[in-house]
Amino acid sequence: MCEKCKGNFYITTPIYYPSAKLHIGHSYCTVATDAMARYKRMQGYNVMFLTGTDEHGQKIEDKAKEAGITPKQFVDNIVTGDRGVLDLWKLMNISYDRFIRTTDDYHVAAIQKIFKKMYENGDIYKGTYKGKYCKPCESFWTESQLKDGKCPDCGREVQDAEEEAYFFRLSKYADRIQDLLENTDYLEPRSRVNEMVNNFIKPGLEDLCVSRTSFTWGVPVDFDPGHVVYVWIDALFNYMTALGFENDKYDDLKDFWPADVHFVGKEIVRFHSIIWPAMLMSLDLPLPKKVFGHGWLNFNGEKMSKSRGNVVDPYVLAEHFGVDALRFFLLRTFPFGSDGNFTNEMLISTINTDLANDLGNLVSRTVAMAQKYFGEHLPAEQLENPELDNELVNMVSTLRDRYEEQMEHFAFQNALNEVFKVISRANKYIDENAPWVLAKSEENKPRLARVLYNLLETIRICAGLLTPFMPATAEEINNRLGKPAADWDHLNVFGVLPQDAAPVVGPALFPRIDMEKELAALEELTAKEAEPEEDPLPEPLPQINFDEFEKVEMTVVKVLACENVKKSKKLLKFTLNDGTKEPRQILSGIAQYYTPEELVGKTLVAVTNLAPRKMMGQESCGMLLSAERGDKLNLVMLDDSIQAGSRLV
Ligand code: MSP
Repeated sequence: MCEKCKGNFYITTPIYYPSAKLHIGHSYCTVATDAMARYKRMQGYNVMFLTGTDEHGQKIEDKAKEAGITPKQFVDNIVTGDRGVLDLWKLMNISYDRFIRTTDDYHVAAIQKIFKKMYENGDIYKGTYKGKYCKPCESFWTESQLKDGKCPDCGREVQDAEEEAYFFRLSKYADRIQDLLENTDYLEPRSRVNEMVNNFIKPGLEDLCVSRTSFTWGVPVDFDPGHVVYVWIDALFNYMTALGFENDKYDDLKDFWPADVHFVGKEIVRFHSIIWPAMLMSLDLPLPKKVFGHGWLNFNGEKMSKSRGNVVDPYVLAEHFGVDALRFFLLRTFPFGSDGNFTNEMLISTINTDLANDLGNLVSRTVAMAQKYFGEHLPAEQLENPELDNELVNMVSTLRDRYEEQMEHFAFQNALNEVFKVISRANKYIDENAPWVLAKSEENKPRLARVLYNLLETIRICAGLLTPFMPATAEEINNRLGKPAADWDHLNVFGVLPQDAAPVVGPALFPRIDMEKELAALEELTAKEAEPEEDPLPEPLPQINFDEFEKVEMTVVKVLACENVKKSKKLLKFTLNDGTKEPRQILSGIAQYYTPEELVGKTLVAVTNLAPRKMMGQESCGMLLSAERGDKLNLVMLDDSIQAGSRLV
C-alpha cells in the first residue's frame, strides 16, 4: 500500500456471461461499480476494480455449435470482437484495473487446484445427481425449490437430470451461513437477507452438484476425466484467482483480499451469499466484507433482453445521448437496491431537466456573465453579503459530507440528490442577486464579482463530486473554471478558486433534446434494426462424394401454368417447360409463400430425376428447389435469359 493512501479497496462486478451481446441492463452494475471505484480513488484509496467474463458452460457450448464455431471462437467474438464487452467498457469509460476471463490459463489451472483441495478435505464427494436443471441459468434445483414446476429464477422449463457427479457439502455450512446473513452486515440491502434465509436456508440447504459430464466446455476435473467443474464454482473463484489465488500470475491477495464489496444483481445474490461463503469456509479463507444485491432494470415495464433491439443497446443509447448522460441517468434515476423501469422518455427528461437546465445552465450562465461583465478574469476586489451568501456557502461547504454519507451506503441516487439540491439553490441564488442588475452600476461591481465567485466555487465543488458519475463532463467543467484544485481534500473547502479566477466560455454541455423528435428517431431505429430471433441452423448432413452429387439432375424449368390444388392449403400444381417437348408436372408445398399468378413465367430449378410420387391423388415428377430457414422460404429463381432444359452443374 502506498504511504499516502487511505487504505486498499477491492470492488468487483459480476463477470458477464458472453452468450449474447450486452444490453443496457448489463451496463448498470458496471457503471455503478465504476462510480464507486472512482469515488474511492478520489477519497485516496488504493483501488482494485475487477471485472471480466464468465465463459464456460453448456449454453455457450450449444450456441457455438449452432453458429458452427468453437466455444472459444464464440466467446472471443463477444468479448474481444467489434463492439464486444471490452469495446463497450471502453466506450462507457469504465476504469477497471483488471479484467479476468475464466478461460484464461492461470484461472483454469487455479480452479482445478481449488476443486481438488475441497475434494481432499472431504467437502466435495462423488455421488449421483438426480434433479432438475435450468439450462439458461446453468442452475440445478431440487423439486421443492421449483416455482410451479419451473425455474424459480427465470420461470423457464427445467429438465430432468441424472448423472454421476461430484457434490459440495453445502448442508454442512447451513448454520454458519444463516448466522452470517442474520447477524452481520455481509449482505445488503437487508431485505435480501430475509429472502435468502426464508427461501433457501430454512427449507433446508441440500448439498450442491458441482460437476457435469454431459458437456465438455468447462474446467476439466483433472483427477476424473469426463467431469467438468460446475460453472458457478469456476465463476465465483474469479474474485480470488484474479488476485493470484492458487496461481503465480498475480500477487495481490495480501493487499486486496477479502474484497470490500461485491456488487451483484438480485438474481445472483443466492450464489454470492450462500454458495460463495460456504466454499470459502470450506477452504478456511476470509469472507468478503460485503455483498450488495442491486435491483433489475426493466424496459418499458418488461424484462430487458437484447432481442428488443436497439433501444436497449448501450452503443445506440450512448451514441444518441452521450456516455456521461447515460451513466448519470442510470444512477440518478433508480435507487440502487430496487428494481427500476427504464424508458426513453425518462432518459430524455432527466437529461433535459438535470443536465441541460440545472447543471448546464448554471455553468453556462455563470461563466458567460463572468466573461461579459469582467472580461478575462474576476477583479480581486469583492464584496461579501453574509445575509445573501451564507446559506449557499454553508450548503456548498458541507455538501461533501452529506454526499459521502450516502456514497458510503452505495446510495448513488441520494448522493446525486444532494449535489442537485445545491445546483438548484445556486440557480436560485442567481435570480436572488440578479447579476444583470448589479452590472448596471460601477459601484456594484465588487458585489457582482463576489456573486459570480460564489457561483464558480459552487460549480467547482459540484463538478468535483460529479466526477465518479460523469468523469468527462466534470473534467470539462473544471477546465472551464481554469483547472482549480478539485481533489477530495479541496471539495469541502469553500474559497479554493483564486479571487481573480479566469473562467472560459464553451459550448452547451448538454444541449436540450427535442423529446418528440428523438423518440420518433429511436422508434424508427428499433423498427429497422431490431435483432430478429435467429432460427436454429439445420443439422449438417453426412458428407457425400462427387459421384453421389453428380447423380442429382438439376434442370432449369419455366413455369407454363400454376394453380392451387383443390382441398389442399399447401400445394401448388406447376406445369413446367423442362426443355423437352412434354410438359412436366410438379407439386410443391409452397402455397403459403406464393400465389400461383406471381409464378407464371418464372425460371426455376427442379430436380428432374427424382422418382415420381403421388400427392393428393396427383402425380408429381420432381421437386422444385427452394431455400428454407425458420418461417421463410424462397424458390430458387434464375435470370430469364437461361434456356429451359439447361443443367445445373
Ligand atoms: N456470469 C454470472 C455472474 C458470475 S459472478 C461470479 C452472470 N452473468 S450475466 O451476464 O448473466 O449477468 C451479469 C450481471 O448483469 C448480473 O449481476 C445481472 O444481475 C446483471 N443484469 C442482467 N440484466 C440486468 C438488468 N436488466 N438490470 C440490471 N442488472 C442486470 O450472472
